[in-house]
Amino acid sequence: MNTAPAELLSTMAPPRLEIRNIKRFFDGRPVVDDVSLQIQAGQVTCLLGPSGCGKSTTLRMIAGVEMQDEGEIYVDGKLICDTVFRVPPERREIGLMFQDFALFPHLSVADNVAFGLKGPKDQKRARVEELLAKVSLSKYIDDYPHQLSGGEQQRVALARALAPRPRIMLMDEPFSGLDNRLRDGIRDETLTLLREEDTAVLLVTHEPEEAMRMADEIALMRGGRIVQQGAPYNVYTRPVDKAAVAFFSDVNVLNAQVNGALAQTPFGQFLAPGVPDGTDVEIVFRPQHVRIDFDRAGKGPLPTPSDGVPARGVVERARFLGHESLVEFRMDFDGSLLKVTVPNVFLPEVGRVLWLTVPRNRCFVFPKG
Ligand SMILES: Nc1ncnc2c1ncn2[C@@H]1O[C@H](COP(=O)(O)OP(=O)(O)O)[C@@H](O)[C@H]1O
Ligand SMILES: [Mg+2]
Repeated sequence: MNTAPAELLSTMAPPRLEIRNIKRFFDGRPVVDDVSLQIQAGQVTCLLGPSGCGKSTTLRMIAGVEMQDEGEIYVDGKLICDTVFRVPPERREIGLMFQDFALFPHLSVADNVAFGLKGPKDQKRARVEELLAKVSLSKYIDDYPHQLSGGEQQRVALARALAPRPRIMLMDEPFSGLDNRLRDGIRDETLTLLREEDTAVLLVTHEPEEAMRMADEIALMRGGRIVQQGAPYNVYTRPVDKAAVAFFSDVNVLNAQVNGALAQTPFGQFLAPGVPDGTDVEIVFRPQHVRIDFDRAGKGPLPTPSDGVPARGVVERARFLGHESLVEFRMDFDGSLLKVTVPNVFLPEVGRVLWLTVPRNRCFVFPKG
């Protein structure tokens, strides 16, 4: 009999966290509607979606402070909660971190971190020292929270949450209270630490940049449902619908009707494989993917199969943002505005005529509605 290789066995291990078909109703309205997720140890999944879509409610059910109306939650393959059976929050081995991470003001940094630890004193002390070293705060071990900056307090809160070696970390917009320039550094440090501790992380955020930066996997949520799930690259480059494109960036939209699996537009034809004749479609593309070319005595560049046909536009507004410029074009073909972002220091003057093309490998064609 063959024994399975170690790599295969490890991939067969149950996920650290699994939620199956979770539902939660408020006033008869589903706010979490059939959500399923799996997260492996050492992995970060971001629950990403607009405010009110049910992210925090999902997190609270996993933490056990809120009870689902349907569905089950498993940790390492063991049921911890369904609609009848329920392991209480304090026995779930789950770490929590929220925006208002509220350290205990009357406790020293060391005592804050030690708060959830059990066992002999010297063991607790060793764990506290280990974690404070990892968040580079060893020298503040005997200080009090008010003596630390916001970013330092955040790192203490992280150390406190990780001290009891939770199997799962739930983080609800944990960085939104920090100012921008501090945030990137703390996000990276947090990620490193979470990976070292080999915990499964579910991070809630409404900021796409944060999700892209932190996540191994993004679960895009809308109206209580997960509408798309995958690696950040895949979610960004293969969005399921227009709203999924628009959640990550500004979008431009062309309307067209399909004929013979092609959508005809002023930018030329777009492939619409499998879409029935007569279907109204939207061709969606991001501002950074539009190409700009010069006017050559009233003409643009030659059409190509990969970029289609150029369309003429006049610069209506141009803003220089440093790392890129944001340019809006009034298009000849129907008077609509089209947004284009151009990297670096290209800043055309208002009124200038330019020609735009839309690379086909950067467009998404969705049936309308
Ligand atoms: N305890 C509650 N009672 C009634 N409605 C609630 C309760 N908690 C949340 N909601 C509603 O459920 C929806 C989802 O809320 P929430 O999970 O906090 O969203 P998010 O974290 O994505 O912003 C919102 O419409 C919110 O108003
Ligand atoms: Mg929330």
